[in-house]
Amino acid sequence: MSSAPGQAGPPAQHSDTFRAALARSAEIEQQLADDPGSLRVLTGDRPTGALHLGHYFGSIQNRVRLQEAGAEMWQLVADYQVITDREVAGDIAGNVRNLLLDNIASGLDPERVTIFTHSAVPALNQLVLPFLSLVSVAELQRNPTVKDEASAAGITSIGGLLLTYPVHQAADILFCKAGVVPVGRDQLPHLEQTRVIARRFNDRFAVTFPEPAALLSSTSLLLGLDGAKMSKSRHNTIELRMSADETAKRLKGAKTDSERHITFDPEGRPEVSNLLTLAALCEGTTPEQVAEEIGDGGGGGLKKRVTEAVNTYFAPVRARRAELEADASYVDAVLQRGNERANEVAEATLDEVREAMGMSYR
Ligand code: TRP
Repeated sequence: MSSAPGQAGPPAQHSDTFRAALARSAEIEQQLADDPGSLRVLTGDRPTGALHLGHYFGSIQNRVRLQEAGAEMWQLVADYQVITDREVAGDIAGNVRNLLLDNIASGLDPERVTIFTHSAVPALNQLVLPFLSLVSVAELQRNPTVKDEASAAGITSIGGLLLTYPVHQAADILFCKAGVVPVGRDQLPHLEQTRVIARRFNDRFAVTFPEPAALLSSTSLLLGLDGAKMSKSRHNTIELRMSADETAKRLKGAKTDSERHITFDPEGRPEVSNLLTLAALCEGTTPEQVAEEIGDGGGGGLKKRVTEAVNTYFAPVRARRAELEADASYVDAVLQRGNERANEVAEATLDEVREAMGMSYR
């Protein structure tokens, strides 16, 4: 993975944090090469819907890479975080199930990864209480990602859970003492908040928590099929679970332009270039190469090529997914095992925390 996210320059107010995180990411990559077993990695997803190709190329692929390199992996399904920016969680059980199927079909191995949910690990959630005592309301109100999420969701009155979810996220990371958290740039303020909480806890009570580092992943380079931000609600995505036919249909409706000669020009021809990027990711080549091969094939030729690339690349993932889905008890068994292990570790950490705080009378 390239450690430089494929985005324009960092916003001024983050630039120091961003640069430090980039440098730290490079060190982690080195540690991964030298001594992968020493890295405990935690990743987290909100179960809000089916995963699409943006998720796959933006984070799932990297997750599988870390697993294959031999890092110790923890995978959180952040179900309590769904209700931070909406009142009801929708079909949460279905979303949790699909999230697991998508991840496992993509190569995440439940034999090697502890997969668990917030709601099944009480001791993790209890850590939020002492952690809340370590942060100020002003500090929470300054978090730029919380503000962005509130405005994206059209929320004018920020609820208590939305305001404090970065503290909950600190509990997600610290309960298992993860050292590395792969995230996109939008999550850096939360990682910083987690580090601050670990430091303050260690200073105020007893040294208990390591300060985790962000491993920056290049947040997806992919746009939606209409050239806008990829998002489920715009119906401009290709979901991992779609059939080859559904994929072809979606791609048929993708936006291109009327120029027959295909070129890779992200500024001037964003929609065409996006499809070239997608084909290149699937084929393991460069978008320029794909463009050259299509030549004067026009939008039709481009769509044909991308459809074939996507359907070929994802055929084994989709076949595996269908296989797993056929066994109704499979996902439950994976979660039960993961939740058991997460509970053991969370309870041990909570005991340490109570001890450090002088609360271990019982
Ligand atoms: N906030 C993360 C997101 O929206 C999901 C998440 C919850 C997470 N807890 C986490 C990510 C802990 C990393 C570590 O993508």
